[in-house]
Amino acid sequence: MSLGTKRILLIISGGIAAYKCLELIRRARDAGLSVRVIMTDAATKFVTPLSVGALTNERVFTNLFDLDDEREIGHIRLARDTDLIVVAPATADLMAKMAGGHADDLASAVLLATDKPVLAAPAMNPHMWQHAATRRNFALLQADGVHFVGPETGEMAESGEAGLGRMAEPTTILAAIQSLMGSTPQNRLPLKGRHILVTSGPTHEPIDPVRYIANRSSGKQGNAIAGAAAKLGARVTLVTGPTSLPDPKGVTTIHVETADQMLVAVRGALAADVAIFAAAVADWRVANASDQKIKKNGKQDTPSLDLVENSDILKTIAHEKPGVRPPLVIGFAAETQHVIENAKKKRKAKGCDWIVANDVSPRTGIMGGDRNAVHLITASGIDSWPEMDKAEVAQRLLEHIVDYLAANTGKA
Ligand code: CTP
Repeated sequence: MSLGTKRILLIISGGIAAYKCLELIRRARDAGLSVRVIMTDAATKFVTPLSVGALTNERVFTNLFDLDDEREIGHIRLARDTDLIVVAPATADLMAKMAGGHADDLASAVLLATDKPVLAAPAMNPHMWQHAATRRNFALLQADGVHFVGPETGEMAESGEAGLGRMAEPTTILAAIQSLMGSTPQNRLPLKGRHILVTSGPTHEPIDPVRYIANRSSGKQGNAIAGAAAKLGARVTLVTGPTSLPDPKGVTTIHVETADQMLVAVRGALAADVAIFAAAVADWRVANASDQKIKKNGKQDTPSLDLVENSDILKTIAHEKPGVRPPLVIGFAAETQHVIENAKKKRKAKGCDWIVANDVSPRTGIMGGDRNAVHLITASGIDSWPEMDKAEVAQRLLEHIVDYLAANTGKA
């Protein structure tokens, strides 16, 4: 291997899309990459190690407990002696094993032992992709820093069913490989030296010590933004209300409950180059919150709650003096009607630079879901993006931020 040759370790798991890996290997080698392959037992039912080996011109590894393999090159060395691990297809089963940290075969053991970046190309039936277990595993793997390409929408090879779950095309996977490996560290970390502040999740406003007012925000969008910013090299502070999500990797996460606490934590985290307010902050808190649990005690009257307005965190920070106010302040506008019109008004009213508007009416399933369809509204216009995964929305928003910082400060 010449010094400049980049090496990938391709893990093929058992799905019908495994056949596409033959083309992926051919294209990767044409692009000058050296490819070593591990196949799970199930993968060998779809393509033979012989045909894979013929294309890679290398021995194909299939079983953790093969003593000859272990003597020749142990699984720890396999895990480390590469620049990138590519899992394609990444079946629901292998994703579950990765998320759970299993190591009962060579593929999962290598994935657990590696210290190299991992790119996964999921492929499965749309129902499997949408299943709550896969959603959970996907979120965990993203938080662990695994990169994803696809899946794409299309017809499933095995059933003729259409939906989201088809493996990305070999050319798309290769492009993702190249963007992860090919760029210089400088280009890969365009936000190095920047501090990005993100708010996320709902807030809980207490009624008494056991009851509170809340909303349906899951925190997924804000957390995805924080995690993606960290991957681009930024120092990231995430101030999050209560969610069930793991803290994103590489992010300083501050947990709060109420809007008041969120404002204090946000102020404490300044100065920042960019502040992104993705939290669904409760607009009101209970003025007469009780120190003790409110009892029924056989009373006929139902208690009434006096509500007072919470501080608007976004508006407060956006109106701070230069030096305190981050140079780029981004708000979100969750709307159920007249989305763009309301969001444009909100951008002006709040004094933020950009606003990311989305339709959260129940029919969209966006509030609490994994996908989002947003419009990015800036002083110069509206950019409407197609519906995509919240992780992709995060990625795309950050690309705009990188461009903005580069154009406006010449630093990035
Ligand atoms: N926001 C905030 N503090 C608040 C309320 C909202 O920081 N007390 C921020 C949100 O994080 C979001 C933006 O303001 O970035 C808009 O939030 P949204 O709930 O859409 O709007 P509201 O200001 O609450 O207005 P309305 O409920 O009337 O739509």
